[in-house]
Amino acid sequence: METGRLIAFEGCEGTGKTTQARMLADRLDAVGYETLVTREPGGTFGAEAIRNLVLSGSKDRWSGITELLLMYAARVDHVEKRIRPALGRGVWVISDRFSDSSLAYQGYARGLGKECVAAVHEAVMDGFKPDMTILFDMDPVLAMKRVEMRGEKLSRFDVETIEFHNTLRTAFLDIAKDKSDCIQTIDANASREAVHTRICYLLSSGFPGLAEKFARIGT
Ligand code: TYD
Repeated sequence: METGRLIAFEGCEGTGKTTQARMLADRLDAVGYETLVTREPGGTFGAEAIRNLVLSGSKDRWSGITELLLMYAARVDHVEKRIRPALGRGVWVISDRFSDSSLAYQGYARGLGKECVAAVHEAVMDGFKPDMTILFDMDPVLAMKRVEMRGEKLSRFDVETIEFHNTLRTAFLDIAKDKSDCIQTIDANASREAVHTRICYLLSSGFPGLAEKFARIGT
């Protein structure tokens, strides 16, 4: 059986990753793929418990390094128990955030440095990586307005300063430049439909066979 693919959506808060993950899964379902939409930190019982710990509480609840280790503890559980088994069954997995979030948030914005994050990554990930990463890029001021408009409880990261969110944007763009062979950047400020169409185009270009399947259903 053909193995599945892991597509990671990355970017700052409020850039529309969650909505687009659902839209892409619906499109892939429509052409006959089994899909799984998941998120980080989270995706398994244990990783969701870690998510609770890391997103709630005061801003200074965790240091940068404890935050990083919690993210990787959650990620290893997620990959071992959910992502790898799904890929083995031929499922297309869409993860709302993956390891480039650790690089951007803990490596750059929390100031741990790229080398520190890379060292932890190499020690625990056994070379595992997404088949494609899509970076949702937009002005953090506009993105944070969207977050406020949702009216949901804000996380330890949502309440950070605009400087923090600007650093994150620059970090993600820098990471995308470094890994231009596997990260595709899109303008997340375009309409929902335009962003969805662009994502389908990127997937069609990256995965032979998908373009033809999308064309059959009129994408
Ligand atoms: P979430 O509410 O899911 O944010 P969003 O909807 O923008 O994806 O919260 C996840 C938060 O965790 C987000 O602020 C980014 C942060 N995070 C890290 O700091 N490091 C990581 O490795 C991951 C996966 C997430």
